Amino acid sequence: MPRIFVSVAFFCAAAIAATPTFHKDVEPILQAKCQSCHRPGEIGPMPLLTYAQARPWAKAIKAAVATRKMPPWFADKAHGRFANDWSMTDAQIATVTAWADGGAPQGKPADAPKAIAWPDGWNIGKPDLTVRIQDPFPIPAQGKIDYQYVVLPSGLTEDKWVQMAEIRPTFRQAVHHVVVFIREKGSPWLKEAKPGVPYVPPTNQQFQNTLGAGNDILTVYTPGMLPDVFKPGMAKFVPAGCDFVFQLHYTANGKAGEDQSTLGLIFAKEPPQQRVLSLGVANLGFAIPPNDPNYAVEARLPIYHEGTLISFFPHMHLRGKAFEFRLQHPSGEKETLLKVNKYDFNWQLAYRPDKPIVLPPGSRLEGTAWFDNSANNPANPDPNATVKWGEQSWEEMMVGFVDIAVDSKFTRRSYQRPAPKPAGGAQ
Ligand code: HEC
Repeated sequence: MPRIFVSVAFFCAAAIAATPTFHKDVEPILQAKCQSCHRPGEIGPMPLLTYAQARPWAKAIKAAVATRKMPPWFADKAHGRFANDWSMTDAQIATVTAWADGGAPQGKPADAPKAIAWPDGWNIGKPDLTVRIQDPFPIPAQGKIDYQYVVLPSGLTEDKWVQMAEIRPTFRQAVHHVVVFIREKGSPWLKEAKPGVPYVPPTNQQFQNTLGAGNDILTVYTPGMLPDVFKPGMAKFVPAGCDFVFQLHYTANGKAGEDQSTLGLIFAKEPPQQRVLSLGVANLGFAIPPNDPNYAVEARLPIYHEGTLISFFPHMHLRGKAFEFRLQHPSGEKETLLKVNKYDFNWQLAYRPDKPIVLPPGSRLEGTAWFDNSANNPANPDPNATVKWGEQSWEEMMVGFVDIAVDSKFTRRSYQRPAPKPAGGAQ
């Protein structure tokens, strides 16, 4: 008999010791994987900074992490490593699950990790320059909202290099994306738009406008996107006298409101060795057949001059299913750089390689997008439609954006042109 008592007591002690507590076990995980979004002013619907805030959500947190719905991350682990990979390890999921199942105990405050000093507002720090949409843009609760273009003069009187860039919307729930383009002085693009006034261009201009008509992208905001923070020695170029063209895509989400997005920039202290260009593999000419569950669309970008790939950003709409980036080496050998298996339109994420990927001259970047235009895709607005390129969510896009750092002597145009043939033999 005494023996049995001993072992029962032993089991109880082990079970108690094994139940993770908030402060000791769970809080460090929330800090590392959740709080960047789940804090005031960011996109997460509720803050998860304290025990009092997290406790009522314990069951929902368990469900969200166990299904890997949270944190949102879609890269196939078989290809590439990414610096911004915030997905959880199996051990972390087990800890959070055991905590919720064990009654979500608080534990000792003395075990708590040091609270992270999250910035209030700008994640990049105090910007050197801010540019804000002049009037809040009204967003209805329902209905289609055309892409809005707002041209805002930069006011820059000298050329600048941008080290960090962030866009802060004020009504995040309704912001599908904000892209800010750099329109150089004298460019005829959107010249009919009045500065500061939201403008909807004629639909026949859609192709060129959506991708910025050859103008470089300064920065992008989408739900889950981290601000651009370039390594020292790498920066984006903004010339004196340029305008910033905000492309705003709002989607009505059942709640009316208004948005007044602001762009913030921190400039490099000195000119960098490398200029960051936002380029892409894109296919504008596809037609996805009705009811096709797995339609592939290909695109490629020839590399004429060495570059370093520092970010991927696959973009499709509601029928988007999967996306793959490959590098074809000059030898012809192909390497998969990123595979997104379960593409989710609601999460437009960037994937930043943890080691820079060198693109040698003579190589080629390739992208494949797969679309599910069948009735089995719950997001599909109309399986019986033949679907072509267009701005709205019921139309489609196929773009694999990439940020490439190149020698700062290049312009966007010269980087995409082959080097002139050597003049050898002419004499
Ligand atoms: C990239 C930003 C981001 C990160 C990182 C993130 N979340 Fe979320 N979370 C959201 C957004 C936005 C929503 C609301 C939309 C949705 O449910 O998809 C959400 C929803 C949730 C919900 C569901 C709330 C409900 O209404 O049922 C839970 C629970 C949750 N998150 C927990 C977590 C936990 C735990 C982590 C970390 C392990 C985490 N999230 C990481 C942005 C994020």
